[in-house]
Amino acid sequence: MASFRALVVDKAHDGVAVAIRDWSTDRLMDGEVTIRVEYSSVNFKDGLASTADGRVVRSYPLILGVDLAGTVVESADARHAVGDKVIAHGYDIGVAHHGGFAELARVPAGWVVPLPTGLTTRHAMAIGTAGFTAALSVARLEAAGLTPDAGRVIVTGASGGVGSTAVDILAARGYTVAASTGSTDAHDFLRDLGATEILDRAETSAESGRPLERPRWSGAIDAVGGPTFAYLLRTMEYGASIAISGNTGGAPYASTVFPFILRAANVLGIDSVALPLNRRIEIWQRLATDLRPPHLDTTIAHEVSLDETPDQLTAILRGATRGRTIVRINN
Ligand SMILES: NC(=O)c1ccc[n+]([C@@H]2O[C@H](COP(=O)([O-])OP(=O)(O)OC[C@H]3O[C@@H](n4cnc5c(N)ncnc54)[C@H](OP(=O)(O)O)[C@@H]3O)[C@@H](O)[C@H]2O)c1
Repeated sequence: MASFRALVVDKAHDGVAVAIRDWSTDRLMDGEVTIRVEYSSVNFKDGLASTADGRVVRSYPLILGVDLAGTVVESADARHAVGDKVIAHGYDIGVAHHGGFAELARVPAGWVVPLPTGLTTRHAMAIGTAGFTAALSVARLEAAGLTPDAGRVIVTGASGGVGSTAVDILAARGYTVAASTGSTDAHDFLRDLGATEILDRAETSAESGRPLERPRWSGAIDAVGGPTFAYLLRTMEYGASIAISGNTGGAPYASTVFPFILRAANVLGIDSVALPLNRRIEIWQRLATDLRPPHLDTTIAHEVSLDETPDQLTAILRGATRGRTIVRINN
């Protein structure tokens, strides 16, 4: 493949421009593994990367897409043979290294995860970075002691990629799940995934002068941050943990030390980007087995073409997407 199609962001006189372009293989960046991309997916970070003020892209022009899954077509690393099915996401992909919205990708071997048995490349991209982050959040909460009989677990930004996959994984593991959403049309969607209680985003993002409120959550997965994170700190049960991964609701938050010194609250920072490869492989293995979201194909994910992807990038920044969006590349 001397030239291939790619969705590229580049500097333009009034900011940045995003367009599908023909790209040549000699313009791929360094890496030991070249992959024929079968599927990618749309994440909030891809939306940010497509705008001038998103502040995530560190190299222009750049092929967008923080996620990719496909088949190895060239390899200079013994861990990955031609014909192997693989996944790559995070690290510099889609921000400083050409990403997954392209027919071909070349990445360092140390970023490549073998596709676990039981998942197709399409399944892997239905999960993608957002679903991986949800699974990592569940794994961290359970490692901190959370069990299904502990009480109710809250998921914020529940209709989004991280949130919907988290609701699905938790419900399948027997947790009682409360979903916080600002999308009034997503209530049935969230109940179908297994949420038994729906809270309005207005309640969970409200500011309060009180340092503590009635404790009600035995665990929390928060992809929203800002005032929502402050709400969670005020309302966690004694000794409970919050897995925080996102900031769609803002970055700053106002709180006090009281959730920590009076309720023994734990905050688990969740990062999928720089997570070491061995831990990444372990979470993907679990996504194919005990952390597998059961409603991926039927409810959570829908598919678009590469040509339809720019519209999805603007939609995710407006909060106008639901669940996960798979991008079909070579299929
Ligand atoms: N730490 C990591 O490694 C990591 C990995 C993946 C994602 N993230 C971050 O996690 C967040 C979610 O990513 P995603 O891909 O799941 O995005 P997404 O699909 O757009 O979901 C985000 C959800 O947040 C809620 N939301 C949107 N705007 C909001 C606002 N102004 N105030 C409060 N809630 C709002 C919406 O849910 P409702 O309509 O249901 O309220 C939306 O669906 C992003 O900040 C992303 O950068 C971090």
